[in-house]
This record gives sequence, structure tokens and C-alpha cells, in this order.
Amino acid sequence: MNYNNILTKTSDSITTITINRPKKLNALNQETINELHQAFKEADLDADTKIIIVTGSGEKAFVAGADISEFADYSVEEGEHLAANGQKILFNFVENLSTPVIAAINGFALGGGLELAMSCHFRVASDNAKMGLPEVSLGVIPGYGGTQRLTQLVGKGLAMELIMTAGMIDANKALNYGLVNHVTTQEELLPLCEKIARKITQNSSVAIASAIKAVNANYQEGVNGYNVEIKEFGKCFGTEDFAEGTSAFLEKRKADFPGR
Ligand code: COA
Repeated sequence: MNYNNILTKTSDSITTITINRPKKLNALNQETINELHQAFKEADLDADTKIIIVTGSGEKAFVAGADISEFADYSVEEGEHLAANGQKILFNFVENLSTPVIAAINGFALGGGLELAMSCHFRVASDNAKMGLPEVSLGVIPGYGGTQRLTQLVGKGLAMELIMTAGMIDANKALNYGLVNHVTTQEELLPLCEKIARKITQNSSVAIASAIKAVNANYQEGVNGYNVEIKEFGKCFGTEDFAEGTSAFLEKRKADFPGR
């Protein structure tokens, strides 16, 4: 499929989605959000894709936020709809994909950009990256899940400070906070993400999908994560991947998972 604001490429079971509005620092306008929804959905359904990496084009920005020019004159109702629709079609959608998603944060990840990165299953940053939720400096609050996911990732005190100050932290501080898992140079960012991705693709994709569901259950209101884990654990015993993984171990060979 052809997109106006994103690029996609698949090789070695890895689909890379690049947000491509460098002149606007890859800010998320509505069209880009819709295209990202479509691209993530296609990659998730694609039998050749076992993992997704999302990054920004250019050397300056991952995503510098939601496109401020689009919502500057919104009403209360339009503002609420903007957040609800965005959460549904992009941010919650990515978090709940059964295909793992890595955010390769290659520069500014601000507002909706950091919220997108936080919706991914984990994050790797280049050493020039800067992260923050500057919304209160615009008289609004994070609306794409930022107040919830930042708190989950770094804890309440640090999340409160980062949101209230509207400040930016650098990649090493983000690493200390546990917001990103690794920091590397800009040149090494995609190669490192691809190296981690290749490790993940060696494992059972059905078991990984179950693991994503079970981990996410920890953050769902009214859901008992231990019970979800029990159900997902049990389901694994009915998969071809489990038969292959256990036989390969017992036969002292490398597993070749069918992904079913
Ligand atoms: N929405 C819309 N346009 C944006 C944008 C956003 N979130 N972030 C950057 N842009 C645009 C700028 O308007 C500018 O466009 P122009 O050349 O047509 O004027 C272009 O991207 C380059 O940005 P600029 O501000 O000139 O770059 P800079 O290097 O001076 O500053 C930032 C970089 C990231 C510090 C600055 O762009 C910024 O603060 N962006 C907004 C961040 C934000 O508040 N995000 C949360 C939104 S809720």
C-alpha cells in the first residue's frame, strides 16, 4: 500500500515503519495516525512479519508530537474525540498487537511521539534523543495515554515531575528512568534494534503473542493478570510451536517454529 506520510519495508521477518514528515519533525497529523493504523494492522496480519520496528525519518526527530496546527481551534467535544479516537486506532492498538513492536527513538520524542514510543512493547534510543511530554506548556495534557503509560514505566513521582515541568530528558536519563532499554549512537540505532529483533524472531511467535497479552493484563483495570497468564500458558500446550520447541530441546537441535 502507498502512504503519504510513512514508509514501510520488510526484510528478514522484520517490518520497519518510518514516519516520514521530516519538515514537520514527523508530527502526527490525522492522516499520519490513520496511515500508521493501517500499516501496523497490515504488518500484524502479514505472515512474513514477525516483528515491527517504528522510527522517524531524518536525523532530528522520532516524532515531535501531535500536529499542533490541526487541533489549535478544537472545542471540548472535538478535543475529547481526538484523544479517544487516537487512543483507539493507534496507541492502544499498537500496545495490544500480537506482533512485538520496538520503538527506535532517533531524536525528539515529544508529546504524542513519546506516547507512541511508550505504546510500543519496548524502546531503544540514539544518544541525541530527547524525550518529554510538553503538553501543559500548551495548556493541555497528554491525551494519547501519556499520563498512564509514563507512570507505569517510570513511577508516579518522576512522571508527575516530567509532565508538570513540561521538560525534556536526554537519552541517558531516559535509560536511568527505565523509559528506554538501550542507548546507542544514531548510526547504530537501527542495527541494534534489528539485532534484538532477530533474536526475538528465533522464538515462538505464538508464545510471544501470549506473553504480550499476559504482561499487558497487569495494567488492565479489573483484569487478574495471573489468571490471564494461566489461560495463555495453557493455550500454548495446544500449539504446534510448543510441540516443536519441546521436541527440538529433547532432540538437542535448534527449534524451527511454524508460528502456529
Ligand atoms: N506540530 C506541528 N508542527 C510541528 C510540531 C508539532 N508538534 N513540532 C514541530 N513542528 C514543525 C514546526 O512548526 C516547524 O514547521 P515550519 O518550518 O513550517 O515552521 C518544523 O516542524 C520544524 O520545527 P522547529 O520548531 O522550527 O524546529 P526546532 O529545532 O527549532 O525545535 C522542537 C524543535 C521539537 C523543540 C520544536 O519544534 C517544538 O517544540 N515542537 C513542539 C513540541 C510539542 O509541544 N509537542 C507536543 C504537542 S501536543
